[in-house]
Amino acid sequence: MVLFSRFFSSVLLAVLYASYGKAAARPGDVKFSTHHVRDLGNGVKVEVFHPPSNYKTFGEGLDVPSSFFDAPIENKTVSFVSSNLNVDSAKVSFKSGFTKDNDESFGYAEQVHDGIPFVNAVANVAFKDNKVVAFGQSFVDTSKAADSKPSVDVSAVISKVEETLQGKKNDIEPTLEYLAQPDGTAALVHVFQVQNDDTGTWYQAYIDAHSGNLLSVTDFVAEASYRVLPVFKMDPTEGLELLTDPSLPSASPNGWHLSKGKDTSGNNVISFKGPQANTTTESSDGLIFDYTYDPSVGPTEGDNIDAARTNGFYVINTHHDTLYQYGFTESAFNFQKDNFGKGGRGNDQVLLSIQDAAGTNNADFATPPDGQSGRCRMFIFTITTPNRDGVLQNDIPLHEMTHGLTNRMTGGGTAKCLQSLESGGMGEGWSDAVAEWFVRSDTPEITDFVTGTWVLNNTEGVRSRPYSTSMTTNPLKYSDVAKLDEVHDIGEVS
Ligand SMILES: *[C@@H]1O[C@H](CO)[C@@H](O)[C@H](O)[C@H]1NC(C)=O
Ligand SMILES: *[C@@H]1O[C@H](CO)[C@@H](O)[C@H](O)[C@H]1NC(C)=O
Ligand SMILES: *[C@@H]1O[C@H](CO)[C@@H](O)[C@H](O)[C@H]1NC(C)=O
Ligand SMILES: [Zn+2]
Repeated sequence: MVLFSRFFSSVLLAVLYASYGKAAARPGDVKFSTHHVRDLGNGVKVEVFHPPSNYKTFGEGLDVPSSFFDAPIENKTVSFVSSNLNVDSAKVSFKSGFTKDNDESFGYAEQVHDGIPFVNAVANVAFKDNKVVAFGQSFVDTSKAADSKPSVDVSAVISKVEETLQGKKNDIEPTLEYLAQPDGTAALVHVFQVQNDDTGTWYQAYIDAHSGNLLSVTDFVAEASYRVLPVFKMDPTEGLELLTDPSLPSASPNGWHLSKGKDTSGNNVISFKGPQANTTTESSDGLIFDYTYDPSVGPTEGDNIDAARTNGFYVINTHHDTLYQYGFTESAFNFQKDNFGKGGRGNDQVLLSIQDAAGTNNADFATPPDGQSGRCRMFIFTITTPNRDGVLQNDIPLHEMTHGLTNRMTGGGTAKCLQSLESGGMGEGWSDAVAEWFVRSDTPEITDFVTGTWVLNNTEGVRSRPYSTSMTTNPLKYSDVAKLDEVHDIGEVS
């Protein structure tokens, strides 16, 4: 959008878009610890950077000089950081700290250059029984720090930033700080907050005090949180996590929930059990879906139904948002209730029925043409005691949802092209391949992939052989297709 991009230098924009393309490429990138391109949803993208950090724990603890023992937390923190990093204590500023009654205390400090503190070069020290038990820090080299006297006054940039962030500066006093940049420089920045009471946005903005450019923001608003199995994990043995704001505004501009909705019913998918209205409602205010899946009891016990509906909602939405970036958009016949006037037919969000009573030990996806909802049914697996829920084995809903993708994108949204044996086999192979791509997206290594291991409780999974680059592990070749007459078997030849 011209209105908003005007504010950025074109060079910066080019860099941001280039890195956005890379950052968006793989869903596992959410794990990367230093960069995050924040899409503000109105055509503006800013890069949030945190310098590489280093965190150490010291087991029983690291002895510290006895002069530390009765010193206030401020003094202990500054002394430890400056001596450990071998920097002058004037380069370390105590920020905050607290002490617990069991003789544990925690100090937080910021790096300082020319008397000005850093936003993102910080340190934290944990003390216990007069020893240091943990130390984390992200201090940076300041040799390329910008001049500490601003050449652009904060009053000159406020209105531009308000326009970009579509809000008003609040009455918190602006501050002057340093912001460590990905290229090793440190920018001098004006820092202030911009809020919009109507839309609920609330940012802290960092504006270069020499160029006037908006360099970064902190978003204070958490839109929604879900306790789920991140898409780069396969099954609950790898641990569920509480993810905050996993939706991508460029793919789901209004987030994953309907306006005023507080349940697992949204623009891309409705996740329910039994009747479509039987969804999971937030566990606490603010779209928090924090239900813990307990694998030691059956899928219908305790919070497990809510955890399953939440995981299914998250996985299908993440598939939607990720594939959207690769072109599975409204005009390319995707699944959305509201297409926001961007082409294609709406009213066809995925209907995800978890623990569907129609079957066991399987899952399916029915793809009608664009404009009619896809129907995804996930079944309970009865091989183990207690039984296991197919929707908690991420590669299964990812496989099923990919049938929706390939049936819609092959042949122009009519959903009737992958019906012959060989094309159906390609559909199965694509579904396994996309599922693998998601669950392996946090690692650059290519390892053998076996799908469905947890629900079956065996290492061989549901296919005849692992997907593998080794011709010994998986010797299937295209010539084998002629000998096969089942779609999943044909799909394995890939
Ligand atoms: C703690 O640090 C402050 C400020 O540097 C100093 O004035 C004070 O004397 C120190 N207190 C102790 C107990 O070392
Ligand atoms: C609706 O969901 C609840 C759990 O929230 C579940 O106990 C119940 O069986 C579901 N209803 C039907 C008809 O499946
Ligand atoms: C999974 O299989 C192992 C043996 O292969 C068995 O000991 C274990 O009880 C099984 N787990 C469940 C939950 O059925
Ligand atoms: Zn399939």
